[in-house]
Amino acid sequence: MAMGYRLDRYGRQVPVGLSARQTDFSELPVIDLAPMFGSDPEAKRAMAQALRSACIEVGFFYLKNHGVPQPIIDQAFAASAEFFALPYAEKMEIEQTRTPGYPGYTPMQEESGDAKSRKRQEGFNMNLELPLDDPYVTSRRPFFEPNSWPRRPAGFRDTLLTYFGEMRNLGQKLLGGFALALDLPEGYFQPMITKPITMMRVNHYPPQEDQASDDEDIGNGAHTDFECFTILAQQKGITALQVVNGKGEWISVPPIPGTFVINIADQMERWTNDLFSSTMHRVLNKNAMDRTSIAFFFGSDDDIVMSPLPNCVPEGEAPKYPPIRAGDYVLGRVDNAYEGNLKKKLA
Ligand code: OGA
Ligand code: NI
Repeated sequence: MAMGYRLDRYGRQVPVGLSARQTDFSELPVIDLAPMFGSDPEAKRAMAQALRSACIEVGFFYLKNHGVPQPIIDQAFAASAEFFALPYAEKMEIEQTRTPGYPGYTPMQEESGDAKSRKRQEGFNMNLELPLDDPYVTSRRPFFEPNSWPRRPAGFRDTLLTYFGEMRNLGQKLLGGFALALDLPEGYFQPMITKPITMMRVNHYPPQEDQASDDEDIGNGAHTDFECFTILAQQKGITALQVVNGKGEWISVPPIPGTFVINIADQMERWTNDLFSSTMHRVLNKNAMDRTSIAFFFGSDDDIVMSPLPNCVPEGEAPKYPPIRAGDYVLGRVDNAYEGNLKKKLA
């Protein structure tokens, strides 16, 4: 059957309709990160090869043996559930628009009445936590705005900062893997992630048992992520994430215990001259239960100048993109998604 498409606001083709082909999870590759913690070059080479195929052919994969202790993940989910269960007025004390930039609470439309908010998702956003006298903070650099912490639940800040720290370490490790997958030395990207643009969003999706009015009327409509890659933790036992495959079909991505879901995002796609795929995905929670997820968006330092990596540009061809400062690229992408609101807010 022919698949219908519509154009989204970036001019990309999005498959229409809400049906997803429920597939065996083996359709997304599973990458074992264990070799990156060891010193066996042969094992690393094999992992890099599998990673390369996953990034080129799918843009999404499960990651196992990632080294993040399960209790730290469980505690982040428990604290997040407690936060979302707070009264609306209390969550609104840290509403995103009260402070500059990305951090803060984003409410659900039903409660806020704000037509721009989503009906099917609320969230808590945070940046890399820096001391308030850090020059990046005092000079108001985009993506380094101070975080907005709720008064409750007790321990929320510590729990999320611990989880964030684990994500930053894992992201660094994984970027070493991506370097190997690109035939670069493992440490190639490390000088470029000394103070990276890193954002984290805890998502809460209520059950969507009624009919969606269209394919944007869901937890999170079809989109790609903006930075280098995303590390996603999914709530146990609840399937809601869907990914587009090469045929334009929506594929469900059920959680697998002990894994994260990793996806390539737009900055990495551009950096690799479109070799790695920033694959479109969306969230539709048709379960009878609420769902929480934690997305960690890992980028580079903002002041590096990013040109397509030389060994991603075929012999005799020009790179597809001119050089650009990484921070400017990500800001442009985010601003586009927020329809200009973020830059206005930062001005
Ligand atoms: C995102 C995202 C997926 C999910 O936050 O960008 O795609 O399962 N989240 O929550
Ligand atoms: Ni996403």
